[in-house]
Amino acid sequence: MKKIRKAVFPVAGLGTRFLPATKALPKEMLTVVDRPVIQYVVDEAREAGIEHFIFVTGRNKTAIEDHFDVAVELYDTLSRRGKNEILERLKSMQPQPGETSYTRQQVPLGLGHAVWCARELVGNEPFALLLPDMIMQSEPGCMKQMVELYEETGGNVLAVEECDPSETHKYGIVGRGRDAHTGFEITSMVEKPKPEDAPSPFYINGRYILQPEIFSLLENQETGAGGEIQITDAMLRLHAEQPFYAHIYRGSTFDCGSPEGFIKANIALALKDETLRPNVASFMQDLLQKA
Ligand code: UTP
Repeated sequence: MKKIRKAVFPVAGLGTRFLPATKALPKEMLTVVDRPVIQYVVDEAREAGIEHFIFVTGRNKTAIEDHFDVAVELYDTLSRRGKNEILERLKSMQPQPGETSYTRQQVPLGLGHAVWCARELVGNEPFALLLPDMIMQSEPGCMKQMVELYEETGGNVLAVEECDPSETHKYGIVGRGRDAHTGFEITSMVEKPKPEDAPSPFYINGRYILQPEIFSLLENQETGAGGEIQITDAMLRLHAEQPFYAHIYRGSTFDCGSPEGFIKANIALALKDETLRPNVASFMQDLLQKA
């Protein structure tokens, strides 16, 4: 079984749900507490043993490359001023030379198309795919748990969460087969089914381990929902040929691509931070009393 060494981060979307904030700034660079959203997602991948980070970028996304690069003047200044703690923290978050690759999607034709753009960089091996606007908080992290499941089962692995059965029409839903490690074998996948047609309440939440055969399917994948090339449509075709497993993720998920999820992420992660918690908690209590 091939190890999962590479992760793809599709960061070429337009972020229309978060305009005007995302007009000039990529949504992945919006700050949650003290770091950009993308840093949380890259850290989750690194914890899972990922060695190479592939970003599918687009126009206006150079801030992401700068964020993961060495900031020579800044590092020198911090060092001269004796700010070694923050300097070490910055360095520890930064990928090593050669660990990152960037490619451009050129036209945002959909998530499936963005993933296909990474085909040459991924090559002929299974890879992780992380939606870079979703922050997942759990111990161990979601992708690490998925890799553990993958090491038991092989095949393709999707992280799933349980939704309210009345809300299946918002998600990609999977059918539940026999139990497997921390999840189950996937029997079917349905995009946004009505509650009465949903095979289960488990929805695909934005973390994937996929076999490289997905690329040849994406190559000729027709446009689907929203006029975009959808990864789910290609996964459905791959499912006819290869097994898929679900890892049942139990942790917090924040969709930072929307203002609501982003605000919730900031509140939740500020309350988790020991230094911020006391003041933030009392400030919120005051606000709520006045509301
Ligand atoms: P989303 O649909 O959440 O992102 O796609 P979006 O299109 O940027 O956002 P809205 O809906 O307009 O607000 C999921 C992920 O896929 C990437 C996005 O950057 C996001 O992280 N994506 C989407 C691409 O890289 N390319 C695309 O063509 C579409």
